[in-house]
Amino acid sequence: MLQVRGLARRFGGVTAVAGIDLDVAEGEFVSIIGPNGAGKSTLFNLMSGLDRPDAGSVRFDGVDVTGARPERLAALGLARTFQHGRVFGNLSVLDNVLVGAHTRLRAARPAVPVLGALLELALAAILPGSVRAEERALRADAEKILAMFGDRLLPRRDQPAFGLSYANRRRVEIARALALRPRLLMMDEPTAGMNETETAEMQELIAGLKARGQTILLIEHKLEMVMRLSDRVLAMDDGRRIAEGPPDAVRHDPAVIEAYLGHASMGQAEAAE
Ligand SMILES: Nc1ncnc2c1ncn2[C@@H]1O[C@H](COP(=O)(O)OP(=O)(O)OP(=O)(O)O)[C@@H](O)[C@H]1O
Ligand SMILES: [Mg+2]
Repeated sequence: MLQVRGLARRFGGVTAVAGIDLDVAEGEFVSIIGPNGAGKSTLFNLMSGLDRPDAGSVRFDGVDVTGARPERLAALGLARTFQHGRVFGNLSVLDNVLVGAHTRLRAARPAVPVLGALLELALAAILPGSVRAEERALRADAEKILAMFGDRLLPRRDQPAFGLSYANRRRVEIARALALRPRLLMMDEPTAGMNETETAEMQELIAGLKARGQTILLIEHKLEMVMRLSDRVLAMDDGRRIAEGPPDAVRHDPAVIEAYLGHASMGQAEAAE
């Protein structure tokens, strides 16, 4: 499904990503680990269209999407969440999730070049039956997604997101990504800043997604979670791949142990074990 070749990105004198290859097959769960500053989030940015690579290529479903804009990738079925959660504070929980479903609109969003946006506005003003029916269906779907988080989000569906707890804002972000019904779901440290209970709950949710066949790419520092969930792990340090393979083999790879020992984040990795 995803094919990354020789991806590279430099910031001034820092080579954040230094020629990464990565394949993700349909239904696979791949995790990316590595100490702070290893280049994990930059790699995500390059793959999801937030940043453009200096070299290398990204193919999604056989289509070359190197340097493509995020909205094109979203339309192709790629959804991501951010390390530092991003939600629309003034929108309700439900509306935040509906934003994620925007690319799924058909009746309300005519696929016409240039005039498409104008037509979309006109349709929003007139609200023909087909558009209303579509909105109802997406709303029902968004509620179904909120229900996946137990009673964390559904009872708060009409509250503005700015009033939510930190953990709930992170959940909303994941709900929004799921509303796209993505073919590939990319999550950057979904449990960062969460306590043990919240982390366990998130792990269970992600395990549930995996069980349903969702293709997932996960960046995560909590190694125990990585070990439990992943089919395959890519370990990075200084922008490079230092190991790749089954979780257990990667965890015990001398290069990985050394990378963590050489960085302050070893404490974090140990704490998670
Ligand atoms: N926009 C930017 N401008 C300049 N340098 C950047 C930028 N983004 C990332 N970097 C640098 O690139 C390197 C990789 O950063 P990145 O955020 O990808 O690491 P990471 O593996 O996600 O780390 P962490 O585990 O702390 O989230 C770091 O040295 C970082 O300072
Ligand atoms: Mg990061």
